[in-house]
Amino acid sequence: MADSKIVVPTDATIAAAAQALAAGKLIGVPTETVYGLAADATNQLAVMRIFQAKGRPANNPLIAHFANADQARRWINVDDDATITWQWNLATTFWPGPLTVVAPLRGSVAPAVTAGAETLAVRVPNHPVMQSLLESFALPIAAPSANRSNYVSPTQANHVATAFGDSIEMVLDGGPCDFGVESTIIRLTPTVPQLLRPGGISTEQLVSVFGDIELIRHQAPASPSANTDSAGVEPASLAPLPSPGLMRKHYSPQTRLIKASEFDLGKMNPAKVARLYFTPQPQSDRPIAFGWIRVLSPTGDLNEVARHLFAAIREADQLPCELIVIDECSNAGIGRAIMDRVHRAAT
Ligand code: TXA
Ligand code: MG
Repeated sequence: MADSKIVVPTDATIAAAAQALAAGKLIGVPTETVYGLAADATNQLAVMRIFQAKGRPANNPLIAHFANADQARRWINVDDDATITWQWNLATTFWPGPLTVVAPLRGSVAPAVTAGAETLAVRVPNHPVMQSLLESFALPIAAPSANRSNYVSPTQANHVATAFGDSIEMVLDGGPCDFGVESTIIRLTPTVPQLLRPGGISTEQLVSVFGDIELIRHQAPASPSANTDSAGVEPASLAPLPSPGLMRKHYSPQTRLIKASEFDLGKMNPAKVARLYFTPQPQSDRPIAFGWIRVLSPTGDLNEVARHLFAAIREADQLPCELIVIDECSNAGIGRAIMDRVHRAAT
């Protein structure tokens, strides 16, 4: 039933998707990072439907997606400060690709997109289906990850259909996402770009291009319900968050999840534990008979770990297990984004 919303992308279905957007409807879209819940970024009512469907706090802004950097540039102002112009020119070398750029707003997107802030997050995704849709639609497409607020992000069309079958017109099936973790977000500043969220573009790649970047530390919300609650849409009167993407609790499965370094079997029944390994473990290193085991990469490739991470957590969350125990890795390359998501899921 929900799966009947999953559509094979063709010229005709992509045109139908563009029409649905123009009519103010929501659709599920594939990108190279995760699936998005998309609406016309210039249509306030349509954008508000995204917040409602996700249960997303109204003070948490959305990313606007564009077909190319020239189109994105029309909606932001990167011209008044030479350093920002320079940073913009370097940032666009990562496009199309998993980088989101926060810059001063200029165009008139629907106010809900920016949650009242004076900046806009823009991104040019690298997925052929999303590219065709953006070209055919011509206006910016607002799209957060297509998960309910604070749940694990979707990396397959069926994840979107299951969560939003009732609220979306369709989900374009672009296959499993290549990266599996969301885009890296940077904010352009008159000094150095700030890293707001680690993601598909590594910190090392950013440093090699910008020379320097500022790492922003995670901030815990003031109270557990202050700005991350999945209970419902927060009043719009709340001040825009400096960087809502840095909120600590996020990506959480229903089942408790902990890092392997914190795991102690104690009195637990191992049959009730789901164990997610990043790399294969020799039998001799596996004295505990876990109820369910999944190896995210047979070759220990962290890109593959990232690609399978969210789907594996979702799968484990469906099991009748009481605990999910997950590996850890270094912060090098894509490892930083993986560990960021693991820390948040474990909070
Ligand atoms: O890979 C991605 O970025 C995916 C795909 C669908 O493009 N999108 C995504 O959107 O991850 P979302 O909404 O799940 O995460 C976007 C993050 C949020 O944490 C939001 O707070 C932050 O970007 N954000 C959006 N606009 C911002 C702004 N103007 N300033 C600071 N942070 C912003
Ligand atoms: Mg998200």
